[in-house]
Amino acid sequence: MDVNTVARFSIHALCIMLLSIFAHVLRQFLPRSKSEPPIVFHWIPFVGNAISYGTDPFVFYSKCREKYGDIFTFVLFGRKMTVYLGLDGNEFILNGRLQDLNAEEIYSPLTTPVFGKDIIYDCPNAKLMEQKKFVKFGLTHDSLKSYVQLIEAEVLEYLQSTPSFSGSLGTVDITAAMAEVTIFTASRALLGAEVRQKLNAECAELYHDLDLGFRPINFLMPWAPFPQNRRRDAAHAKMSSIYLDIIAERRASGKKAPDGQHDMIWHLMDCVYKNGQQIPDLEITRMMITLLMAGQHSSSSSSSWIMLRLASRPDIAEELYQEQVSNLGRGGLQPLQYEDIDKLPLLQNVVKETLRVHSSIHSLMRKVKNPMHVPNTNYIITPDKVLVASPITTHMDTEFFPDAHVWDPHRWDAHEDEELEQDIVDYGYGKVSKGTKSPYLPFGAGRHRCIGERFAYINLCTIIATMVRTLKFATIDGRPTVPPTDYTSLFSRPTQPAVIRWERRS
Ligand code: HEM
Repeated sequence: MDVNTVARFSIHALCIMLLSIFAHVLRQFLPRSKSEPPIVFHWIPFVGNAISYGTDPFVFYSKCREKYGDIFTFVLFGRKMTVYLGLDGNEFILNGRLQDLNAEEIYSPLTTPVFGKDIIYDCPNAKLMEQKKFVKFGLTHDSLKSYVQLIEAEVLEYLQSTPSFSGSLGTVDITAAMAEVTIFTASRALLGAEVRQKLNAECAELYHDLDLGFRPINFLMPWAPFPQNRRRDAAHAKMSSIYLDIIAERRASGKKAPDGQHDMIWHLMDCVYKNGQQIPDLEITRMMITLLMAGQHSSSSSSSWIMLRLASRPDIAEELYQEQVSNLGRGGLQPLQYEDIDKLPLLQNVVKETLRVHSSIHSLMRKVKNPMHVPNTNYIITPDKVLVASPITTHMDTEFFPDAHVWDPHRWDAHEDEELEQDIVDYGYGKVSKGTKSPYLPFGAGRHRCIGERFAYINLCTIIATMVRTLKFATIDGRPTVPPTDYTSLFSRPTQPAVIRWERRS
């Protein structure tokens, strides 16, 4: 092709593109059916609002809410995403009927290559409910009780053996440190001593490779032959084989755990589905992988935010230390016990307030299966849509939380959790509060509600209590600021690196 032909061809292509953008924009200004929620304006077909949503979903939702109200539809790579904000939106989506709303169609492309087949979102919802029940009942009061000492020991060992914490003062990238600490604590507590031992050698790398599967691009192309997807698949196969070996050894020796300690693998080896089938070994291995990912992801982000907030407010960190001294004194601070956590209300409120301001999951999604009428409106949400709830918007709403943008753990001091009896429901994994009347839902609500809340609290409280009694913290420049949120991964987290100062307590 000569230069003129190429130039002519490029001009034609450009004209066609501009015309299609013009037609697309024009279509958005034509009158729409009254039963359709307003469409968020966007210039480019297919890509839609992906850039503004991906840059900062919370700001995007807030701006759209100002312009269109609580219900609006935006386009995300060709998908129509209908967002319904506020308490009514949370209720409509999170407590919607199973036949109308489906989580697995949305989440499965992303989660199945990481977690594996036949579990969580790669199986019918009734089976997921049974699996959630198995895990929830494995997190018994007794097991949670034993975790506190294990978690404390892991944190102390980390502080002693990690170069960035050697000496009496220094600086550390706290996001990297907390990612490591939480993978050690989650694996030691949830997955048992054998897995924790193996983790030192190779599993941390495997975990990292598996995590590559959670890139947002994988919502669209989980099968694409990118190097990170190949590493994800190899890591999944290797992790599975580690767990399969552990199960096989236990079956062969007739002992369910090496030291007789009742752990999650042992518990799952004993569980039986309603149809009388034992959980197949492969499914146990996949549930263990899921637990490690679920237990570590949000806890890593939450613990980093807590540490950054404490560095920006050393007065609150000091209050936390004094709370331990006065409430747990016992003649000097002794190793932490499970019962101690209940005696530390400010510590719990620091966790609670951080989960309010820094939710790591900003969009909870469900595929619409049947037309759904939105009560008190003309809107019908049709099955070509994905419904999106975003509890963080009520977390940050001044109607419910005065000065909502201010991180203030003391706002919870006089707060009593209300649980109305008529609000209790059992979706098949034990009784839970429906919860959607509450403006505070860091663990979601309804049938897909998180089962790890109690573990997350024990884990976070023990990690932070141990950090606070060992070290003091400050921001690098001494100012009360925290870094911006990074939304590039599916689970939002502080922008990395996030470096703080620390000083060992005498
Ligand atoms: C700070 C820590 C955590 C936070 C903020 C958190 C948050 C959430 C949220 C918001 C959901 C609902 C997702 C949806 O409705 O689409 C969820 C689901 C889930 N969480 Fe957590 N989580 C945390 C820790 C954990 C831990 C430690 C575990 C495991 C021990 C866990 C296991 C799960 C599982 C299995 C689901 C899926 C439930 C389903 O789809 O039915 N999470 N979590």
